[in-house]
Amino acid sequence: MTRIRTQVGIVGAGPAGLFLGHLLHLEGIDSIIIENRAREYVIERVRAGVLEQGTVDLMIETGVGERLRREGMRHGGVQLAFQGRRHRIDFEELTGGRSITIYGQNEVVKDLIAARCVTERPLYYDVEDVAVTDFDTPKPLIRFRLTGKEHEIRCDFVAGCDGSHGVCRPGIPASRLCVYEREYPFGWLGILARAAPSSDELVYALHERGFALFSMRSPTVTRLYLQCAPDEDLGRWSDEAIWAELMERFNMSDGWRPNRGEIAQKSVTGMRSVVVEPMRHGRLFLAGDAAHIVPPTGAKGMNLAVADVRILSRALAQYYQQGRGDLLETYSDRCLLRVWRAQRFSWWMTSMLHRSRDGSGFDYRRQIAELDYVITSRAAMTSLAESYVGMALG
Ligand code: FAD
Ligand code: DHB
Repeated sequence: MTRIRTQVGIVGAGPAGLFLGHLLHLEGIDSIIIENRAREYVIERVRAGVLEQGTVDLMIETGVGERLRREGMRHGGVQLAFQGRRHRIDFEELTGGRSITIYGQNEVVKDLIAARCVTERPLYYDVEDVAVTDFDTPKPLIRFRLTGKEHEIRCDFVAGCDGSHGVCRPGIPASRLCVYEREYPFGWLGILARAAPSSDELVYALHERGFALFSMRSPTVTRLYLQCAPDEDLGRWSDEAIWAELMERFNMSDGWRPNRGEIAQKSVTGMRSVVVEPMRHGRLFLAGDAAHIVPPTGAKGMNLAVADVRILSRALAQYYQQGRGDLLETYSDRCLLRVWRAQRFSWWMTSMLHRSRDGSGFDYRRQIAELDYVITSRAAMTSLAESYVGMALG
């Protein structure tokens, strides 16, 4: 048995866990990060791509934004497409100059891992059988196995950053949690294509055949999504069928289409809204997808994870530097304010842009009316823009 002692034990090396480790390091606080997947898997996993201004600013301020500055693609707006036409929502003009940046989640993770390696603080991959206990006592315990050997971490606090399928949240007695949940009858089939983006901005499209999203990762890689069933069988989709469906849904009267290219990756994701309240139990603090999941239409998941750990790192810094716990006490309430705002926005974007099985066509016509309102009313488009660029991190 190997026994280790640290101040903060972090479970999960996604954006939440890695960013927390980084922010704590800058405050002079010790942490150990454990991850049950391999390093290559964590780095290669294709996920989010949209960073809010607050996330970008935080990366730059804390010294992990150098590559983001060089390679990130700054976007001053997005486009909404319906009935064959695209309409621009100008974020910069509507929000006093705020914008979003396209930079893959895996690139964020790569930069944070590189920063962690420089600090020489521990980050263990491929750990097995993780269990978190004693979080109701002053000395919580994390147990795991690494290369066949049992390990124990005694710490002051545990950060549950282990995503939606982790062990931290299920380790909390159900009687002490409120879980708010909504399933959507939709999924996204996503692809990465080796093709130059044919638009400088994202295109969110509602078509009679369903939602489609045009995004990108670099000047040579296009990212595209199609609404599908939540349990869609990818095996039924040949590359040709995916392109045919995309071209149909992005059929614009001005002739705009995505560029085609070799499909380098494809996957299907279901869509859910989940919020767990509270986000703290004794000395266990949940952050990121471990505490909440949003449907991807609002591009909020990774940004929420970063906002949580920023609040948590400040609260822990106050505890260690001033011996005060008031910011730890209010952690959950402060996070949940932003989380519910993001839930509302993601739910709204999802319901405006996806086709439901509505026999009468009422919903589709209502959705077109909603989109028409958003592109013609300055108040409505300002509301979309404010929510999309996100609340300031404060
Ligand atoms: P995760 O990234 O899930 O990290 C959790 C980590 O914990 C993982 O590495 C996991 O392997 C590890 N882990 C799990 N169990 C254990 C265990 N028992 N022990 C140790 N480690 C464990 N968000 C955006 O902001 N913008 C977008 O544009 C966007 N688009 C998306 C598109 C898609 C298709 C999907 C699927 C998601 C998208 N998201 C987006 C959401 C975003 O990817 C997530 O919200 C984000 O990954 C959350 O980060 P996290 O660190 O909380 O969780
Ligand atoms: C991307 C993902 C999203 O969920 C979204 O709303 C916009 C863009 C992306 O992966 O690029």
